[in-house]
Amino acid sequence: MTDQIFSLIEQEYQRQLDKVGLIPSENTVSPQVSEVLSSCLSNKYSEGYSNRRYYEGNQIIDQVELLAIERVKKLFSVPYVNVQPYSGSPANSAIQFALLQPGDTLMGLKLTMGGHLTHGHPDVTFSGKYYNSVQYGLGADARIDFEQVRELAHKHKPKLIIAGNTAYPFLLDFAQFRQIADEVGAWLMADISHVTGLVIGGEHPSPVPHADVIMSTTHKTFRGPRGAMILVTERGLARDPELGKKIDAAIIPGLQGGPHNATTAAIAIAAAEASQPSFTQYARQIRLNAQTLAQTLMDEGIPLVGGGTETHLMIMDLSSFGFGLGGQVSYAMDVAGIYANRNTVPTEPSSPFYPSGVRLGTPLVTSRGMKEKEMKKIGKWIAQVVRHVQKYELPQDKKLRSKFLKEFRAEADQDLKLLEIAQQVKAMCKKFPLFAEEGPHA
Ligand SMILES: Cc1ncc(COP(=O)(O)O)c(C=O)c1O
Repeated sequence: MTDQIFSLIEQEYQRQLDKVGLIPSENTVSPQVSEVLSSCLSNKYSEGYSNRRYYEGNQIIDQVELLAIERVKKLFSVPYVNVQPYSGSPANSAIQFALLQPGDTLMGLKLTMGGHLTHGHPDVTFSGKYYNSVQYGLGADARIDFEQVRELAHKHKPKLIIAGNTAYPFLLDFAQFRQIADEVGAWLMADISHVTGLVIGGEHPSPVPHADVIMSTTHKTFRGPRGAMILVTERGLARDPELGKKIDAAIIPGLQGGPHNATTAAIAIAAAEASQPSFTQYARQIRLNAQTLAQTLMDEGIPLVGGGTETHLMIMDLSSFGFGLGGQVSYAMDVAGIYANRNTVPTEPSSPFYPSGVRLGTPLVTSRGMKEKEMKKIGKWIAQVVRHVQKYELPQDKKLRSKFLKEFRAEADQDLKLLEIAQQVKAMCKKFPLFAEEGPHA
């Protein structure tokens, strides 16, 4: 009998095929990455590192891990790489564990302004609880306020400054972060999870000349398996020749157990794919698609945070359409066949739980082979959805919100206009496989 899980996988596959995925942290992987992920490599336990394992029988796994490390080193021209982090959050925790003592000060971008939970979000996270976290923000132009970063750094003397973000549409100026880190003697860590593919393709400045340590998830624009990698630069090793070893020790025995070997192998495959000239084209198309989508939305009268995008992502600022509309718009977009996520805007008038923005990105649709023509269609559909549901403002009275949202969702699920757009989206999607054949890695 076929397990129910296989039917659910088939349903999820169909959902991904029929809809337009605009979550900037998602992507679709090549058939080779998929194949490797379901291989026998996941049967093996391999605690430790190549040629230094706690278990026997790792002759082949050692080679797999060394190959992944060599490929990533070459791709970024860095001297030290660890490919074992289970994902981005543990990787960031391990870096902090390696560089800081409990109570030390770190600095990162505020969550509500585009930072990540693991960059020192206060009170509820590992990085915000065990370290003294100081959070910097954005200026009125929605860009990093470097004057504030400098002022806070001089005042609080952080041991670690994190340059990186999860919802920021502009290029990051790593050189400025480096300068400030040097002024106060801090380590500089770059979290390039979102933009790794753009960095490799030359579409975003590289942190390699500036940062001491770099972290990236491997499942976003890098287009590999769910996982992460930590890179130590020449600069980082010059400051502390033991830095690589400290990172390794923070991963195991510090934080993790056995590595996920199939994931390691899939990182090696993704690194090989990213080293192809076609990947440069892919990175370029991600940005072209983002620019076209952004322009279409703005032409349709939808403001974007900071007035546009320089990367793969943008944030629609719906605060001029009504109060706390982000969740209703993202829900309605999903009913209409286009999925994204609600997000705060920098001057959030509502709250992080009921924010006023929706974050959109183009890595996944670009992997499917969609180009500017499709971005224009998608932008127009999104604008229709926004206008259609803008009347569903969030009640100011908090007690009324859960009933309001339940009723809104029930109505949206049956809404003929949204369902009609979903049909049009599905028809367009039929022309695009999950991973474009004549695309980047054919
Ligand atoms: C900048 C950044 N760092 C770290 C992470 C955490 O990665 P993961 O979800 O794999 O733990 C994310 C994920 O959204 C991210 O955007």
